[in-house]
Amino acid sequence: MERARLSLTSANRINWDRFPMRLYQLGKKLFWDPANLNMERDRKDWEALPEQVREMLLQLTVLFGAGEEAVTWDLSPLLSVLTREGRLEEQMYLEQFLFEESKHTEAFTRILDFMAPGKDNGRFIDSNPSYRRIFYVELPNSMNVLLTDQTPEAQIRAATTYMMIVEGVLAETAYHGYVTTLEGMKVMPTLLEMIRNVMRDESRHIAFGTYLISRLVAEYGEPAFEAFNKRLSELAPLAMGVVEAFFKEAQGPSLVQPEEYVNYAMSQFRNRYTVIERARRMTVEQVYAMGLREMGVVTSSS
Ligand SMILES: [Fe+2]
Ligand SMILES: [Fe+2]
Repeated sequence: MERARLSLTSANRINWDRFPMRLYQLGKKLFWDPANLNMERDRKDWEALPEQVREMLLQLTVLFGAGEEAVTWDLSPLLSVLTREGRLEEQMYLEQFLFEESKHTEAFTRILDFMAPGKDNGRFIDSNPSYRRIFYVELPNSMNVLLTDQTPEAQIRAATTYMMIVEGVLAETAYHGYVTTLEGMKVMPTLLEMIRNVMRDESRHIAFGTYLISRLVAEYGEPAFEAFNKRLSELAPLAMGVVEAFFKEAQGPSLVQPEEYVNYAMSQFRNRYTVIERARRMTVEQVYAMGLREMGVVTSSS
């Protein structure tokens, strides 16, 4: 195979104003390193927590952390689509996105190393069949299919699974669980800081997914929008199943209520749905110009 062109040698170089390029610049500005987290105070807090709270936090950390590992494994087939289509700004952003998922896997591994040193935590997956279905079947399948099927519909199925449901609904629900528990009990400040860093990164990942689906809807019209809705309706019951099984297992402390978790995630999700629906009446150029804040991106570290 011979390369058709390199954009740097042409007049048509990187467009700094495009949405993914703005995400890329912000990601560099908000860089953080999981290896720099000092867990000393957290370690002491953890030892002193009641058993029931420890079990709930351990379950949350195992499910969130295993989810981070799954998305670290499964993102790269989307790169092959962008490479083939020659979308340099999206390619560069996605490469940063991949690195951030590796950092998240590192961060959660570091937490589990002191929460449950040398322990197997597979029981949390075994007791959550919807989780297993999403992370062991739906996510890898919908991403890996892109290696052979790069149609707009396949791209939308992949992005809806990865960025809308896994990152958009499940990770945000878990995030809310950590914040209400750790802030409410005033414990484990470094874990809380780490979770906030992860979710700041995730706000860009989810925004990239919203942007990508919007671009495809603007380019390909109703069949693309229908593929988005169809995938959502396939996965919504599984996402609810993950949360239900979590609470069945957790018997959690009363400061965390299931409805609160789900309502939080759903309100975030509705904003994104509105953006994608609006893209049916937008041009691709208008999608490129979308604002970071209107897409829910966290733009500063404070
Ligand atoms: Fe992540
Ligand atoms: Fe992510």
